[in-house]
Amino acid sequence: MLGRILRRMLPACSARAAAWGGGRKLADGGGRSAPPGGGLVPPERNRQTASMLIGALATAVTTIRLTLHVLAAAVWVGGQIVLAGLLPTLRSLGPDASRRIAQAFGRLQWPAYAVLLLTGIWNVSAASKGQPHLWSLVLGFKVGVVLFAGLGAFLHQRSTSRAGLALWGSLTGVASLAALVLGVLLAG
Ligand code: HEM
Repeated sequence: MLGRILRRMLPACSARAAAWGGGRKLADGGGRSAPPGGGLVPPERNRQTASMLIGALATAVTTIRLTLHVLAAAVWVGGQIVLAGLLPTLRSLGPDASRRIAQAFGRLQWPAYAVLLLTGIWNVSAASKGQPHLWSLVLGFKVGVVLFAGLGAFLHQRSTSRAGLALWGSLTGVASLAALVLGVLLAG
């Protein structure tokens, strides 16, 4: 996705750099170049510069949006995988250790889930325009899976029996992984 945006921008930037190559420095010493042959910058060039700046800004905003989304996904999904992997060691540290670590993880997990929901809505508003019907179908499925993962994590935290903890823990993990795969599918 980002690669596509950058690839689209780079030729425009290099074409512009080539067009300005050989230009002289402006008198204000600001390091800017005047067009070859001197004189005022034609309005067409101003338009090109403005649209390049808008393109760069859009790229920066897209970078922030996807970075926040992927970072929160890393905490939500990766945290569950790491916690599951550490569980046998945690249990060997004492009867209370795994519960306390799980509680500590909850303090990271729920803010990450909130960021996922917010940036997810941001993603939809930024990326849904002109998408095929299949994209919307995948998105609808993904939202269902995300909500199920949230419910599963909530019930997992409330479970008191070993069976309840195992059931809701594993269902949450599978749903979270599915959300991640569907997200990658959506990004294309
Ligand atoms: C457990 C929760 C979630 C996980 C693990 C997750 C994960 C991901 C990942 C890994 C990507 C790919 C990003 C990339 O490759 O650039 C993605 C993209 C996306 N996600 Fe999520 N996501 C979650 C929640 C949501 C929610 C709640 C929504 C909608 C309300 C959403 C909507 C989207 C959209 C539309 C994209 C495509 C963005 C684009 O192409 O610009 N996600 N997600």
